[in-house]
Amino acid sequence: MRLCDCHNFHDFRTMAKRRLPGPIFDYIDGAADDETTHRRNSESFERCDLVPNVLRGVGQVDMSVTVMGQKLAMPVYCSPTALQRLFHHEGERAVAAAAAKYGTMFGVSSLGTTSLEELRRRHDTPQVYQFYFHKDRGLNRAMMQRARDAGVEVMMLTVDSITGGNRERDLRTGFSIPFRLNLAGMLQFALKPSWAVNYLTHERFRLPQLDAHVDMGGGAMSISRYFTEMLDPSLSWDDVAEMVQHWSGRFCLKGVMSVDDARRAVEIGCSGIILSNHGGRQLDGSRAAFDQLAEIVDAVGDRIDVIMDGGVQRGTHVLKALSLGAKAVGLGRYYLYPLAAAGQPGVERALAKMRTEIERGMKLMGCSSVDQLSRANLRFR
Ligand SMILES: Cc1cc2nc3c(=O)[nH]c(=O)nc-3n(C[C@H](O)[C@H](O)[C@H](O)COP(=O)(O)O)c2cc1C
Repeated sequence: MRLCDCHNFHDFRTMAKRRLPGPIFDYIDGAADDETTHRRNSESFERCDLVPNVLRGVGQVDMSVTVMGQKLAMPVYCSPTALQRLFHHEGERAVAAAAAKYGTMFGVSSLGTTSLEELRRRHDTPQVYQFYFHKDRGLNRAMMQRARDAGVEVMMLTVDSITGGNRERDLRTGFSIPFRLNLAGMLQFALKPSWAVNYLTHERFRLPQLDAHVDMGGGAMSISRYFTEMLDPSLSWDDVAEMVQHWSGRFCLKGVMSVDDARRAVEIGCSGIILSNHGGRQLDGSRAAFDQLAEIVDAVGDRIDVIMDGGVQRGTHVLKALSLGAKAVGLGRYYLYPLAAAGQPGVERALAKMRTEIERGMKLMGCSSVDQLSRANLRFR
C-alpha cells in the first residue's frame, strides 16, 4: 500500500496498521473500557443530515475562522497528542510543519516528543500548549512560564484526565513508556523490523516538556504512573481560576462536557472550551461531543468560543459541527494515522483531503463562508 492509495481516514488507518508494531497501533487506535464512546464519536455525525441550498453563487469559498483570537485558514486544527515520535521518527515536527503549510493551529502536548520552544521557532502559525495540572503547584507555574517565554499564544488545560483511562488494549500488549512489553507485544515488534530500524537510527526518544521535572526516559516513572501519581485529582475550579489569572492571556479548557462547567469556564475568564471525551480514551460511556454541542452553544456560545473534537473523519462532519455552532473542530486520529503511515507527506495529504472536502461540501451546501452554515441546514433523524 502506498500513500497515493490513501483517499480517506480508513485508508490511512490501514496503512498505519501495516507499518506500526501492533502495540503502538493499538495505543493510537484503542480507547477506554469497551470503546463504546470511541465508536459513538463518529456515529454521532450520522444522526443528522445536511440540507443544502442551491444557486447561491459559491465561486469563491472562504473557509477561514477566528478562534481564541487565532486566524485559521480552515476550520480544523491538529489537537494535541502524546508521543508522536513513536508513530513516526519525524513526530511533532511533521505534524507542526503540515499544520503550518495549511495555515492551521497545532497543539503541542506536554507529553510531546519535541520541545515547544523548537516548534515555536520553526513556525509562526498559531500554536496551543496543552498541559495537565500537577500536584506540585510550582511545576504548574514553571510550565506556564516556559510556555510564556517560548511565545505560546494559547494555553490549553486538559481537564478530563484527572486519572488515566482504562485502556485494555495497552494492558494486553504491555504498552507503556518506557517500554515494558510482554512476550506477545515483543513478537509484534519483531514482525515490524523496518519500524524498529527507523526508530533506532533516529534521534533518541525524549519528552522535553517534562524531562526537567520527571525522570520518564530513565525509567523511574511510566506514563501511567505519571497520571496516577503526579497529576492532582483534587484540582478544583478555584485552582483553575487562579491559573487563568496568572496566565492573563488566552486560556482554554479541553474536556468540558456539561452546561454547568461551560458556564463556570466563562465565569473564570476562559477564552474557549473544547467539548471532548479525549477520543473515547478516558470515561467510556460518556457522551459524544457532537451530541452535546447544541446544548452548550445555546448556553454559552455568545460568550466563549465553543470548539469540539472526537470522531471527525470527513469534511461533512466538520460542516455539521459548524452548523450547530462550533467555532472550530479538533482532529486527533485523523492526522495520527497518516503520520504513522508516511510522516509529513502523509499528514499533508490528509489535511489537503480535509480542506478539499470542506471546500467541496461548502459549495454543495450553497455557502461561501463558514458563518453561512447554521442549524437551518441540518435535520436530525
Ligand atoms: C494517541 C493519542 C494521544 C493523545 N494524547 C493527548 C494528550 O497528550 N493530551 C490531550 O489533551 N489529548 C490527547 N489526546 C486526545 C486528542 O487531543 C483528541 O481529543 C482526540 O484524539 C479526538 O478524538 P479523535 O482521535 O477521534 O479525533 C490523544 C489522542 C490520541 C488518539
